[in-house]
Amino acid sequence: MAMAAKRTALITGAGDPAGMGAAIARRFARSGMSVAVLDIVEEGAKEVAASITAAGGSAIAVTADVTDRKQVTEAAERVRSALGPIGVLVNNAAIEGWCKFEDLTDELWDRTMEVNLKGAFIVTQTVLPDMEAAGWGRIVNISALGGQMGGVFDMSHYNSSKGGMISFTHSLAIGLGAKGITANTVSPGFIDTPMARRAIETSAFPVDHREILKSYPIPRLGSAEDIAAAVAFFASEDAGYITNQVLGVNGGCYN
Ligand SMILES: NC(=O)c1ccc[n+]([C@@H]2O[C@H](COP(=O)([O-])OP(=O)(O)OC[C@H]3O[C@@H](n4cnc5c(N)ncnc54)[C@H](O)[C@@H]3O)[C@@H](O)[C@H]2O)c1
Repeated sequence: MAMAAKRTALITGAGDPAGMGAAIARRFARSGMSVAVLDIVEEGAKEVAASITAAGGSAIAVTADVTDRKQVTEAAERVRSALGPIGVLVNNAAIEGWCKFEDLTDELWDRTMEVNLKGAFIVTQTVLPDMEAAGWGRIVNISALGGQMGGVFDMSHYNSSKGGMISFTHSLAIGLGAKGITANTVSPGFIDTPMARRAIETSAFPVDHREILKSYPIPRLGSAEDIAAAVAFFASEDAGYITNQVLGVNGGCYN
């Protein structure tokens, strides 16, 4: 897969060393991109960026809450001055949420929508001028299997935000294709990250998750690297004629 050596990528929610965002950042860096590791958790973002730099890559950490336009604007400015204009954006930051439907509050619904969907809007709108000026860009939005299929009842707020991510991506693809900018969605299934482990350990899972996995055509949890591989393809030079697509990376579950 051909990758441009000098692209700069911004990955949101990349400050969890065991999460997908960090795996995406590491993969991009290995392919020669400069990467901005954005997260609301400053220490995590710094740790991930430092590990990339230690491995010979080019990375900086930027701290921002994706729902805060001022913080996002300042973060994007830092990225531009350190690494140059942003050509690749991965909207990955999200919060999960298991909550019984009858207990779901307005506040939890609103915060989930704000982080998972509005955050992607704010970050995209902030970095888009760089891509438009270059006549080249790659936007990869992270949805979820539950956003495609409805998922489980006790995650209706999360699943709705992730379904919205797919619609948002379609609109971007339609509006930006003629400008050389693609927009695609990667939709993870059940992936072994801290988010999934929190769900398994805290909750809410009505059955042993190993029983769920047995029904998958590929009967295992996915890895963060499985997701990073799909994102890297959409972000690559080779994927310039591919836009408006949803790629499920889910072991074949329900697809
Ligand atoms: N793990 C799974 O099984 C699974 C399945 C489907 C979809 N996903 C999606 O994949 C993506 C990555 O998930 P993960 O499992 O690596 O989760 P994770 O919790 O490990 O990573 C999410 C990151 O987003 C950051 N974040 C949260 N709120 C933020 C905010 N307001 N501003 C900036 N950063 C913020 C967190 O600090 C964290 O580092 C998410 O979009 C998630 O919804 C995960």
